[in-house]
Amino acid sequence: MLMKRRPDIPSSEITDERIYVDRRKFLATGSLLGVAAATGALPGCLKASPSEGEADDKLTPYKDVTTYNNYYEFGTGKEDPAENAGSFRTSPWSVTVEGLVKRPAVYNLEDILRPVTQQERIYRLRCVEGWSMVIPWMGFPLSAFISRVEPTSQAKFVEFTTLHDPRRMPGQRRPVLDWPYTEGLRLDEAMHPLTILATGLYGRALPNQNGAPLRLVVPWKYGFKSIKGIVKIRFTDRQPATAWNKAAPSEYGFYSNVNPEVDHPRWSQSKERRIGEFLRRRTLMFNGYGDQVARMYAGMDLRRNY
Ligand code: MTE
Repeated sequence: MLMKRRPDIPSSEITDERIYVDRRKFLATGSLLGVAAATGALPGCLKASPSEGEADDKLTPYKDVTTYNNYYEFGTGKEDPAENAGSFRTSPWSVTVEGLVKRPAVYNLEDILRPVTQQERIYRLRCVEGWSMVIPWMGFPLSAFISRVEPTSQAKFVEFTTLHDPRRMPGQRRPVLDWPYTEGLRLDEAMHPLTILATGLYGRALPNQNGAPLRLVVPWKYGFKSIKGIVKIRFTDRQPATAWNKAAPSEYGFYSNVNPEVDHPRWSQSKERRIGEFLRRRTLMFNGYGDQVARMYAGMDLRRNY
């Protein structure tokens, strides 16, 4: 299998997972902890009480994280994004902020990143297809950017849009989805401290196939909510349409919380295969992040709001 990486990451510099884990242990007692204490935001790996299931979480190898991908803009096969996204240019990059917000503007990526502190977050990513990974992301809370652009009091939802450029994204030349890919969150979900905009993984710049230069990571929702290659963020008072909901409304709802009790119409969601493991493991409600997020859905029927 051909594996392409961002040209700015020579293969000699990709950190071996073992070394990475050792370095992370060192960081956990050193500088990162300082950052966490100062911001009050504890990265996933530093939480005092680990989320459910975290004890047996082993990082998924870098090679799997970067060669087994879903990014339909670069093909529908798992290896397609790594093979087809290598030459995708992610600079210059800007994000348009519009809708019910006090500071609508086109923000350059550098301008978005300048005021924020990058943190490491080790999150599980559970795909609706039944596989999962554990990934050390680099990024920052989406809430930091949202607070800066100041949504108005009418804003209730946030819509995210991926770049639409079939010349640069060959998968968009085929009508697999209603391009561009869009996703949405309720404003409180978007402001939740676990929700991050990711800019890297394994301490390196985000590979193109993982959504460079900027993607969402919402660890308690199925992977498809974690939209890649974001160019637009719109604040709205109506629940936005999402690419997968438009494609198959009975299969992919707006909320898409990981819920082992609600089957996908064509398969069960009660178990998952951690990439790199043989036996399937039990899927946890909210992907194991229930302690932190369940209260946002109190009183909601999560079978109806799937
Ligand atoms: N974002 C865009 N723009 N296009 C996509 O096809 N696939 C989603 C999500 N974000 C997708 C996307 C799906 S189905 C999953 S499971 C995750 O990205 C996979 O992220 P990963 O490849 O970094 O593991």
